Amino acid sequence: MWILRKYLIRDPREPKRVSSWVPYFGVAFKLNGNCLNFFAKCREQVNDEPIFTARLMGKDCHFVVDSKYVIDVPYKRAPQMDGVSLQKLFLRNNIGITYAETESLCSPEKLKVKKELFHQNLLHKESGSLQSLVETSQIELLKLTSEGQGDNTATLLHRFAIDLAVRVSAAPMISLSLTTHKDLPEKLLTFLNGTTALIAGVPWLLLPDVIKARDDIEKMFEAKEFLENATDFTLRRKEFANAGVIRQTQRVWIKTQVSTLIATTANFAPTLSWILFHLLDDHVAYNAVEKEAIVLGEKKIYDIEDLDGLPVLSSVIKETIRLHSVHFPTKDILEDFEVKVGEKSYLLKKGSRLMSYTPIKHYDPYLFSNPFEFQYDRFLGDNRKFFYKDGKDARDPIAAFGGGAQLCPGRRFTPYVLKATVVRLMNTYNMELLANTKRPEDFVATRAHIVFPTDVHFKLEKKQRRSNIKCQQGTDTLLSQTVTAQAA
Ligand code: HEM
Repeated sequence: MWILRKYLIRDPREPKRVSSWVPYFGVAFKLNGNCLNFFAKCREQVNDEPIFTARLMGKDCHFVVDSKYVIDVPYKRAPQMDGVSLQKLFLRNNIGITYAETESLCSPEKLKVKKELFHQNLLHKESGSLQSLVETSQIELLKLTSEGQGDNTATLLHRFAIDLAVRVSAAPMISLSLTTHKDLPEKLLTFLNGTTALIAGVPWLLLPDVIKARDDIEKMFEAKEFLENATDFTLRRKEFANAGVIRQTQRVWIKTQVSTLIATTANFAPTLSWILFHLLDDHVAYNAVEKEAIVLGEKKIYDIEDLDGLPVLSSVIKETIRLHSVHFPTKDILEDFEVKVGEKSYLLKKGSRLMSYTPIKHYDPYLFSNPFEFQYDRFLGDNRKFFYKDGKDARDPIAAFGGGAQLCPGRRFTPYVLKATVVRLMNTYNMELLANTKRPEDFVATRAHIVFPTDVHFKLEKKQRRSNIKCQQGTDTLLSQTVTAQAA
C-alpha cells in the first residue's frame, strides 16, 4: 500500500516529495539527528523549493523550510487547517486524554473561555493579575534564597533550573502545593525528556519510565493539598470545568492540570538554564547584566516597572531564546486546499500535515550575523543586528512563542520572571562554572526538541556570608542535590 502510494501519480501542484525507505516511521530517525542539516539537504533535493513533503509517522508532512515563511505559512488562518492540532496531539499522545475528550476540550466555545482565563491571568497588565503573579513568583524565589541554600554549593545547572521553574513559574500560576513535592522536578525532567517521542506517536509501551513519571505527577495533583493551595486562576478553571453541558470528569481535570504544568515549565526551565550558562560562560555579558542588577539590589520585590527596564538582560534573554528554543508549528489539513508560499501555491491534501521548524528562522545568516554565536548585546539598542540581506528590517525576528490560536499566553510573564530570577540570583550569590564542566554538545538547537545543558556544574556562594562557607551535602531538596564530590 505504502509503495503503491509512493509511486501513484501525484498532482503536479503538490509539493515535491523527499522519499524515505523506512515504513511508517519515514523520516523520523533523520529528524532525531541534526534537523537543520536534514532540512537543508531535503531543500537541495527539491531544487530549493520553500516546501517539500516527506512521510513521517504514517502521515504525509509538508515542511516549510524557507526562513521567510516558517512562521507566516503555518499560522495563516484558514478553515481548511486545524488551528489547534498540536494541542490535540499533545493532549492525546502525551497527557493520555481520549480522542472524544480532546475534541470536547478543544471545542471553539471551551477554547474561547480557556483563552480568556489565560489572558486575564497572564497578559492583562491593567487587571493587576500579571503584577500579582510576578510578585508571588518572587516571594517563592525569596523563600528559596533565604532558606540557606547555596553556600559554596556545587550544583547541576539543569536540576537547579527545573526546581526553580516549578517554584517561580508553575506553582504561582497553578497551586503553591507544587513546591512541597520534593520529587516533582525529577519526575518532570523524566517526562519532559519523552515529550517529543510521545508527540511524534511513539507507543507508550516503548517509554515506560516517561509514562510512569506522568502518572506519578498526576497523583500529586490528586492530593487534597493541591486544591487547598490552588491559585484563583486554578479555582476559576475548576469552576469552568464543572459548568456547562459537558462537564469534565475528575480524571480529565487532573490531566489538564498536568498539561498546564508542562506548558509553564517545558520551555521555561531550559531557557533559564541556558541564560545562566551563557552569563557564567561570558564574563563581559555577566558584568554588563550585574551592573543593571545591582541597581535593584536592595529591593525585596522588583516592580513590573523595574523589570520593564534592564535592556542588557532583555537582550540576553532574547538571544538565548533565539539560540536555544525549538518549536514545530503544526497544522492538520482538513480539506484539500492550495496554500501560497512565496510566489507559488501548493496543493495540500486532506489528511496530511503542514509543519515548520523555528530554528530555520533563528539561524538564518541573512537575518542574524554569525547565527551560531551567542552575542549578548545582539538585541541591544543600536546593536540590533537582525536585518535581511536587502537591508529591510525584519518585523519580528524571534518566533519562539507560537502564533495564531496557539500563541503562548505566558509570553509576557516569562520575561518578567526570568528577569526577576536572574537579578535576584545575581544579587544574592556569587556564581561560577566549575572547572569540570563540559561544554554542552548540544550548544545550538538543531534537535527536534529543546535540550537542557546537562553536565554543567556551577557553584553558588551567598554574597553576604562569604566568611561562613560550608558545604551542604545531601539535603532533601532537589535544588541542593549537591555534586560537591564530583566537583572536587
Ligand atoms: C521561554 C519560555 C516559553 C516559551 C518559548 C513558550 C512557548 C510556547 C509555545 C510555542 C506555545 C504554543 C504551543 C503550540 O503551538 O501549541 C506555548 C503554549 C503555551 N504556553 Fe508557553 N512558552 C514559554 C513559557 C511559558 C510560561 C512561563 C507559561 C505560563 C506561566 C506558558 C504558558 C503556556 C500555555 C498555558 C500554553 C498553551 C496555550 C493553550 O493551550 O492555548 N508558557 N508556549
